[in-house]
Amino acid sequence: CGIVGYIGNRQASDIIVKGLERLEYRGYDSAGIALMNGQLDIKKGKGKVETLKNKLEADPSEGDTGIGHTRWATHGAPNDINSHPHVSQSGNIALVHNGIIENYNSLKKELKNKGRTFHTDTDTEVIAQLIEEVYEDGEGVSFEKAVRLALKQVVGTYGLAILHIDEPDRIIVARKGSPLLLGIGDGEMFIASDASPIVGHTNKVVYLDDGEMAIVTKEGYEVKTIEDVPLTKKVHELALSLDEIEKGGYPHFMLKEIFEQPRALADCLRGRLNVENSSVQLGGLTDIMDRLEGAERLIIAACGTSWHSGLVGEYLFEHLAKLPVEVEYASEFRYREPLISEDDVMLVISQSGETADTLAALRTARERGALALGICNVVGSTIARDTDAGVYTHAGPEIGVASTKAFTTQVAVLTMMAILLGQKRNTIDSAYAARLIRELNGIPEKIEKILDHSESVKNMAELFTYAPNFLYLGRTYNFPVALEGALKLKEISYIHAEGYPAAEMKHGPIALIDKMMPVVVIAATDHTNDKMISNIEEVKARGGRIIAITGEENSEVIDLAEFNCPIPETEDCLSPLLTAIPLQLLSYYIAVNRGCDVDQPRNLAKSVTVE
Ligand code: G6P
Repeated sequence: CGIVGYIGNRQASDIIVKGLERLEYRGYDSAGIALMNGQLDIKKGKGKVETLKNKLEADPSEGDTGIGHTRWATHGAPNDINSHPHVSQSGNIALVHNGIIENYNSLKKELKNKGRTFHTDTDTEVIAQLIEEVYEDGEGVSFEKAVRLALKQVVGTYGLAILHIDEPDRIIVARKGSPLLLGIGDGEMFIASDASPIVGHTNKVVYLDDGEMAIVTKEGYEVKTIEDVPLTKKVHELALSLDEIEKGGYPHFMLKEIFEQPRALADCLRGRLNVENSSVQLGGLTDIMDRLEGAERLIIAACGTSWHSGLVGEYLFEHLAKLPVEVEYASEFRYREPLISEDDVMLVISQSGETADTLAALRTARERGALALGICNVVGSTIARDTDAGVYTHAGPEIGVASTKAFTTQVAVLTMMAILLGQKRNTIDSAYAARLIRELNGIPEKIEKILDHSESVKNMAELFTYAPNFLYLGRTYNFPVALEGALKLKEISYIHAEGYPAAEMKHGPIALIDKMMPVVVIAATDHTNDKMISNIEEVKARGGRIIAITGEENSEVIDLAEFNCPIPETEDCLSPLLTAIPLQLLSYYIAVNRGCDVDQPRNLAKSVTVE
């Protein structure tokens, strides 16, 4: 979910709605706004921010103080009634919430026993009612104190922005587990889940940490813990610009982000590769390099696309640095009794730096003494701040829900880390390291070449738009790419797709193959090429249709395939940086042909801050 708040001298609704549009990638099941104008004026409902915007255009609401929300439903169906803001019984308190209140059932029962009636199925309404109960119950309890006392009873996660009709000159916000930041303007203040709604208004921000709350007025803010201990927070300068968060002439953010990859990769590599002396510099890792070098094991934890880049990382670290690696779904890792100790290194990978399961895996590892490293895209995100050390991908804001440039830049960072570690551990031949560094440096140009042929992928997409199923096959470094290709297609076109290690096909998926089944084969020209060719023959023998993503010199595969996306030749271990590109384009064009909502696919959210 996304939260925006404004307090100042301008019309809050314009600023809030624009901000919600920028946060819509976090969820788009419903949207709503509450404005303070003598009363709490609330407009909300099912559907995207666009629906809310139309409502406000038809029936404008005035007010220079307000809060807004765009929802990704967890508790309660995404209908009008369950939309945020939620209000207390008297209607005097309105709030928006991101997160999950775990003890909401018991709190609700208690509040009902005290005579409160509830109108929604949400966990959020319970917080509004609880604050009001505390406020009305205690003598001389201020709005702020009521929030503090109420939150002490709450178990779960929250990012909250709260209004109270009795104290119209302030918005109270609180954070535990769900991101929130304050934007400092001149006579005005902004509140948001991430920096995008604030860009263009101010570049001064304060990130709240867990267990903190802030009292925000026009003139400024006061941050304290929920135990009432005042805090002085660092003010950060935002480097984000408006161009980076707009579509720039592309029909969708996803297409813009696919085409941005040469630039994103160049930004990611900049200043980190030295081709002349064959070295890699990752400033973020300098202080912990000795510990990393001596590690016995690396555990990588992530979710979704980031988990796929983690799998590429496993091949890289084992091959180049001879370091044993385990790749874990963050959600599984945290709920097992993971065997992890001070001798291990945990590396979490997250575009947003906010994914709740990944954050929890990171904290579990830290509690057990492991060194915690992160690869994140969003600067200042919770995971980036919670790790001992890390490397930013510098891909720039990724807004399309389906991840593209985040994946390739994560893989680029993992490649640099593995080369660096291989050099430190003396496990990589120096001539090979020099070749890899030179080749990696030239990757942005090779991506550019692939993008120059996007038209041929578009034509191919026409033919497969209505295929009901897809199979993606890859080996070694390109097995994770097969998983990623299948995920992209599922996410945005709603076509069922599966990724498999090519050799596993014969243990099950081969039963699915008939002339209706497109099989995407990702065949980098490596030592498994002959085996891949056999797999292609097996598919063809059963009438399956082969789409090959392969090196432009791999004539054997090219001759066998019905459709081809040749890519420039590169070192095997760098091939995912290239093979991923045509797969992104394929899923994009198919989704567009099917009329799907590419940037905001149904049921998904880009940043999943609930467990
Ligand atoms: C969500 C998104 C995916 C993303 C995953 C992990 O499910 O829809 O695209 O890969 O979260 O996100 P993270 O920000 O941690 O990389």
